[in-house]
Amino acid sequence: MREYTSEDLKLFDEIKNGRTFGPEDEMPEIYRKNLLNLLWMQADSEYAGGLGYMPWIAKAPNAHERVLVAQIVKDEMRHAHVIYRILDELGEKTHDHMLAHEFDWRIPDDLANIGFSRAKKDKRVNIFYYPITYWEDFCLFNFLMDRAAGHQLEDTLNSSYTPWKNAIGTICKEEHMHLAHGDKTVKAMAEDPEKRAFLQERLNLWWPRVMNVFGKSSGATNDIYLRLGLKTRTNAQVREAFVNEIKEKCDSWGLVIPEYNEAAQPLEYTLN
Ligand SMILES: [Fe+2]
Ligand SMILES: [Fe+2]
Repeated sequence: MREYTSEDLKLFDEIKNGRTFGPEDEMPEIYRKNLLNLLWMQADSEYAGGLGYMPWIAKAPNAHERVLVAQIVKDEMRHAHVIYRILDELGEKTHDHMLAHEFDWRIPDDLANIGFSRAKKDKRVNIFYYPITYWEDFCLFNFLMDRAAGHQLEDTLNSSYTPWKNAIGTICKEEHMHLAHGDKTVKAMAEDPEKRAFLQERLNLWWPRVMNVFGKSSGATNDIYLRLGLKTRTNAQVREAFVNEIKEKCDSWGLVIPEYNEAAQPLEYTLN
């Protein structure tokens, strides 16, 4: 872990006592760097996420679901737009960045596990590199990943960066609608004897991918985010809240959560 300077420690203390920042404020380098990290990660994930969902407007199983998927795609595009605007206000060049990367690119191998590694140079959370191959995947993605994101974004409701804090309320509400869609559809498939086995197979595939989103438990980055008031809980705490919720639901719907072994995740992914 890096050593903190006395200036860093003074800043952590001020933030703990309620200091906040806006785009016009002079920002210590350590604050700006970590804030930008998190904002880029969210913006690129929202954008890549929306594009990954888009084909499912046409492929959804019925007219009602097509409307719901279209609504979810629109929400993700709006979330991306809001966060990219916050980045622009900070002097970042989001338009150039969006042109420079292929956000609709996905790993060609449906069964891949890339562990904690990145597949390309954009900033999306790495679960957004996996292809959504089946309707079951789309619903599991809502059930698992929108819930994980919802939990992570909840911390931003208390962010020390005011524009982000102000924007996150409606984003969180919309993420809750997405995860509610996941709950409803996954429950219905789990309770359908003809659909349960394949759903379980896809859950087994997505489970380590979503658990990896919370990062390695040994990582030090989380500590700095907490000290800067950019998060309020450790990754391990957020993950625990997430797993408890999923477990309760899976237990009552007859789905089994597979074992997850952080140490057994692949360290590197190289695209063939
Ligand atoms: Fe979103
Ligand atoms: Fe979402």
